[in-house]
Amino acid sequence: MSNTLDASGAGSDAPNLDFAGTTPYEDYVQADVLTHLQHLRSDDPGEMVFLVTTQVMELWFTVIVHEWETAAKALREDTVPVAMDALKRSLRELEALNASWRPLAQLTPGQFNAYRAALGEGSGFQSAMYRRMEFLLGEKSASMLVPHRGAPRVHAELEKALQEPSLYDEVLRLLSRRGLAVPQEVLDRDLSQRYEPSAEVEAVWTALYADPDAHHDLHRLGEVLTDVAELVWRWRNDHLVATRRAMGAKTGTGGSAGVAWLEKRATKNVFPELWTARSHV
Ligand code: HEM
Repeated sequence: MSNTLDASGAGSDAPNLDFAGTTPYEDYVQADVLTHLQHLRSDDPGEMVFLVTTQVMELWFTVIVHEWETAAKALREDTVPVAMDALKRSLRELEALNASWRPLAQLTPGQFNAYRAALGEGSGFQSAMYRRMEFLLGEKSASMLVPHRGAPRVHAELEKALQEPSLYDEVLRLLSRRGLAVPQEVLDRDLSQRYEPSAEVEAVWTALYADPDAHHDLHRLGEVLTDVAELVWRWRNDHLVATRRAMGAKTGTGGSAGVAWLEKRATKNVFPELWTARSHV
C-alpha cells in the first residue's frame, strides 16, 4: 500500500485526522477538562507538581473505592472469584498510588513554604474520597462527615458509606455463612462505628491459617486482604515521612498537630485480626 504523505505529514495508513466535532478520544477521556483543572494559588514553579500529585492520588482513591465496593458487593452475593479479581486489581492500583509519592517525597521545608501559605486551611484531611477508603476498611467515624456539610453530594455519598457494611464487615459475614464462628455481636454491630478487634474473630483467622486447605478460597482471601492492609499502611507511612521532611513538627494546614497526629493514624492496623492471628498459628 502506498504511504504518500499529504501536506500535514499524514499518510494513508496514518490515523484519522478529520472529525466533525471534538475527537472521540476527548469525548471519552475529557482530557481538556482534566488538564485545565490546575488552578495554581502561587507563582512558585514547584506548586504544579504538588497540586497534580494530589489530583492524581484523588483519581487513584476513586478507582480503589470502586474496586472495594465491587468486592464488597460480590462477597455479599457469595461470588468470591469476582471479589478476588477486584481486590487483586486494587493491589496494583495501590502500588501505583504509592509510587505517586515519588515527586513529593523529598520536598524540603523551603520548597514547601514557597506555596504552603497559599493552601490556606486546605488539607488532605478534607479528602472525601480518602475518607470513603477508610470507611470501607472499617475506620468509620460520623465526625468525619462534618467538614462536608456544605457539599450536599459529597456529604450524601459519605453518609451512605458510613451506614453501609465495610469491606471487612462483608468478609466476616461471608466467613459466618461458611460456618466459621464469627460472634453474633460482631455481625450485628453498629455499622456506623469504627470496627473494634475481636478475640473470637482472631480465633477464626487463626483456625483458617492453621489449616489453609480446609477453606482454600477463604485463606487466599485473607492473604489478598493482608496485601491491601500492608499497602494502605505503606501509603500512610510514606505520607508521614514526606510530611516530616517537608514541615518537621509544625502544625498542619488542617489544624492538627501535624506529624504527631499522623504518627498515631499510621500505627493503626487495617483488618487488625489478620495481623494478630499470626502470633497464634
Ligand atoms: C508533602 C506534602 C504533604 C504534607 C506536608 C502533608 C501534610 C499533612 C498533615 C500535617 C496532615 C494532618 C492534618 C492537617 O492538620 O492538615 C495531613 C493529612 C492528610 N493528607 Fe497530607 N500532606 C502532604 C501531601 C498529601 C498528598 C499529596 C495527599 C494526597 C491526597 C495527602 C492526603 C492527606 C490525607 C488523606 C490526610 C488525612 C489522613 C487521615 O485522615 O488519616 N497529603 N497531611
